[in-house]
Amino acid sequence: MFESPKRRRPEVTSGSRGHEEVKFRDVTLYLVERRMGKSRRTFLSNLARSKGFCVDDSLSGGVTHVVSEGNAAQDLWMWLEDHGLREAHDTHVLTISWFTESMSAGRPLPVEMRHHIQNPAVERRSSSSPAPKPVSTVSPFACQRRTSLDNHNKNFTDVLEVFAENMDLSGNQGPCLAFRRAASVLKSLPATLRHPEEMKHLPCLGEHSKAIIEEMFECGRSSKAEEILKDERYQTLKLFNSVFGVGLRTAENWFTRGLRTLEQILSDPSIRLNRMQTAGFLFYDDISRPVSRAEAGAMKVLVEDAVKRVNPAAGVCITGGFRRGKDFGHDVDFIIRTPEPGQEDGLLPAIIDRFRRQNVLLYADLQESTFDLGKLPSRRFESMDHFHKCFLIVKLKRDDVCEERERDEDGRRDWRAIRVDLVAPPIERFAYALLGWTGSTLFDRDLRRFARLERGKLLDNHALYDKATKTFLSAETEEDIFSHLGLEFIVPSERNA
Ligand code: CTP
Ligand code: MN
Ligand code: MN
Repeated sequence: MFESPKRRRPEVTSGSRGHEEVKFRDVTLYLVERRMGKSRRTFLSNLARSKGFCVDDSLSGGVTHVVSEGNAAQDLWMWLEDHGLREAHDTHVLTISWFTESMSAGRPLPVEMRHHIQNPAVERRSSSSPAPKPVSTVSPFACQRRTSLDNHNKNFTDVLEVFAENMDLSGNQGPCLAFRRAASVLKSLPATLRHPEEMKHLPCLGEHSKAIIEEMFECGRSSKAEEILKDERYQTLKLFNSVFGVGLRTAENWFTRGLRTLEQILSDPSIRLNRMQTAGFLFYDDISRPVSRAEAGAMKVLVEDAVKRVNPAAGVCITGGFRRGKDFGHDVDFIIRTPEPGQEDGLLPAIIDRFRRQNVLLYADLQESTFDLGKLPSRRFESMDHFHKCFLIVKLKRDDVCEERERDEDGRRDWRAIRVDLVAPPIERFAYALLGWTGSTLFDRDLRRFARLERGKLLDNHALYDKATKTFLSAETEEDIFSHLGLEFIVPSERNA
């Protein structure tokens, strides 16, 4: 009871209640009693210990994370400094939100900028004072980062994406994802990287990505990326894969057979294209050209018109890249919202039918719903969703597009072909489908990974399942889903991870 302070080690103190095992040896918590109150502090300390955290009852040198609740930053820092803590100290001073999130996760979460309680006195000190200690404030999960289209590191991310694509085209999904993750972290940064040192504090940058960036700092370019771009195999696979309906296996097969150009594919009598690939070649020039926002808007009018005729109560939302604020896309994605359960049935065939009668349908691949709540949750979170959906190629009349454009140059046809995706989920699944179809793909992937690893929940385009309570969590809006996951809401324009 009257143990000498010199002998006291955090492990001993934390074990004062006896039996809990310390799981996280790198972290020692200290909860500030001021404002929090004694009984809540005891309760929270015990909770943390029961989850394997080490909690020190006093502000010793071993403390790594100070947690405060309800204190103004200035008062808190005065109190901490009175008790011997200095800003230079390598201790995080954090709001209770870091603590509660870590408790729900069952492990100490990476510290983010929003968790920090800054010392106002230090912020006010002159700029000649040494730079504040760097902390990793960037989350390894894209769903905890805000990624607008304003990319300050485009020269780096373009190069990393060449590597990612090269890996993708050779079927190396693991390395591909690693390069995409690295690029995504750089896209979320508020400023351009100025020095290789700055990479030290960033998550998701593997050795390869770091080496590429270092070379770019040294030479202003990446020799390896330039090699890839010149590589015949890379160029050819990329070309073949850019045809609607041509996947990696087909592209690889054609390349292996010595084929190099689209003309060679079309003139090879032994190649039989399927219906999708045929459409892909027929409209290649149009659908390989980016779709503008104005064209997407005109397409929305066309889809809305068809939907209203079938069900006047139904609505149409644009999703995919355009919902994230992009100015151009490779297609236009729509989600159809019907107010009553069951109304989604039969909607897509009726829309396709109307397009056909209007003579604007160039291609349709209709996939009827195979949705069955009884078969959820699915652990294969990469797989496609089960809603009614269709992949279309639709004629868009140039006259329907309100856009400043060169018109009728050299007697070109008065329409262009556009790829359109439609999905029609049941209303009670709408929020999940909207979140999934808005993307970006990496943002969604990390939402699912975060749900599983950090929250013990399974998320996909249909539902969110809580493994602990074995229940599905209902959601009317995207905000509901973020809140079920204990995440700050990220607007679509900040999901460009
Ligand atoms: N998606 C999906 N299920 C499908 C097809 C697509 O969940 N069967 C999702 C994708 O994961 C993505 C979103 O729908 O998040 C949009 O897909 P896509 O059109 O391929 O990408 P965009 O982000 O819209 O990019 P772009 O602007 O180039 O079209
Ligand atoms: Mn899209
Ligand atoms: Mn799409």
